[in-house]
Amino acid sequence: MTDRPVPPPPHPVPSPVNRRLLLTGGAAALGGALAGGAAVTAAVSGDRTPAAAPTGAAAPVAVDFGTETVPFHGPRQAGVDTPPQAYAAFVAFTLGPATDRAALVRLLRLLSDDAARLTQGVPPLADTEPELAVLPARLTVTFGFGPQLYAAAAVADRRPPSVTDLPPFAIDRLEPGWSGGDLLLQICADDPITVAHAQRMLIKDARPFASVRWVQQGFRRGRGVEHEAHTQRNIMGQIDGTGNPTPGTADFDTAVWVGDGPAWHRDGSTLVVRRIRTEMETWDKLGRMDKELVIGRRLDTGAPLTGEKETDIPDFAAVDEVGLPIMPDFAHVTRAHVADDRYKILRRPYNYDGVPGADGTPDSGLIFAAYQADVDAQFLPIQRRLAEHDLLNEWVTPIGSAVFAIPPGCAPDGWIGDSLLT
Ligand code: HEM
Repeated sequence: MTDRPVPPPPHPVPSPVNRRLLLTGGAAALGGALAGGAAVTAAVSGDRTPAAAPTGAAAPVAVDFGTETVPFHGPRQAGVDTPPQAYAAFVAFTLGPATDRAALVRLLRLLSDDAARLTQGVPPLADTEPELAVLPARLTVTFGFGPQLYAAAAVADRRPPSVTDLPPFAIDRLEPGWSGGDLLLQICADDPITVAHAQRMLIKDARPFASVRWVQQGFRRGRGVEHEAHTQRNIMGQIDGTGNPTPGTADFDTAVWVGDGPAWHRDGSTLVVRRIRTEMETWDKLGRMDKELVIGRRLDTGAPLTGEKETDIPDFAAVDEVGLPIMPDFAHVTRAHVADDRYKILRRPYNYDGVPGADGTPDSGLIFAAYQADVDAQFLPIQRRLAEHDLLNEWVTPIGSAVFAIPPGCAPDGWIGDSLLT
């Protein structure tokens, strides 16, 4: 799949601190989190099966996610095929009028150095809160280059052809405040303070060169909260991500990483970010069965309406006793489905949940982030089919849109963007 080592699975043994407390009988100091001998035995033996806790007691905490790191350097950027972390901030910048090629190189060198340190739990230079940097919690910082960056750097001829604004769709209600951008930093970690700290440090250093255009902050289920037996659920309650290409396969690599594009872009990717509002008030008026028909999958298991398990392949030819398709023709999955894995897109969305209106109307939705080798060949055909006919359109509204090239990764003595700008 990638040369980048896959992050190790959650550490099954207690952190040194917890271990010491446990072995010295100081469990009470953990705030009553560990109650009874069974929990202690389970934690010390590394058994991840939750011990039965007395009613009202919190489950034992036997893992230490805070110090886990994802390598920054390598042929491909992290944060694409990295198993999604719980929190994200997508930060888009507009380059300043004086940011020419030389200035852009200085900016990218600086941000690459910051990201290399932060992701490894090392404070960047001039970190004003260095204590916050020591728990990276699988922090990744992924750089994206928007359509106008190439002209600003006098390399307009190197812009990958599909890295341009998407065409308008009738379903769009795009707001400028959530759209476009010259430079993107996708910052993801399993801890929200880590994300906030990295975001602040990176923005601080970018300030002389670029202004913040928009920031979208999102979240998924907290790490370890949801059972790994199925894919994560989104804020609409649906199991979301089933139809993604399978990491570790040749088809995944073809679908996600650039193989044939411009030489500088090999081992990179492209990213489409769409801010999609979910109309929860009207969605909640639908019955459960209708919600399942809109998607074409069951809410409880995520199984297609023609199957029993989440992993069952939908059968679009199956009909019911009166001859109607069991997977509705205009269900989201029917319209979005791509049979050939090499043309799939990798969806890595985050939920957002802003401040509700005074009347309680939610401000929720998805920061829909899709990675693919080529926007035109992969993302656009799906988006066109969905814009044309998709039952889900009644309950979701795209309000932001941006497209970026994801450059390849860099060596320890390099910086992100060096293949484009040197
Ligand atoms: C708020 C907006 C959206 C929601 C709530 C949503 C939700 C879902 C759900 C629940 C599934 C079924 C499970 C799965 O395979 O992940 C799904 C599948 C899928 N969606 Fe979406 N989706 C949204 C927007 C989009 C957009 C904008 C695109 C692309 C332009 C898209 C592309 C896909 C694809 C490719 C699949 C997999 C289809 C398959 O091959 O089985 N979705 N989506």
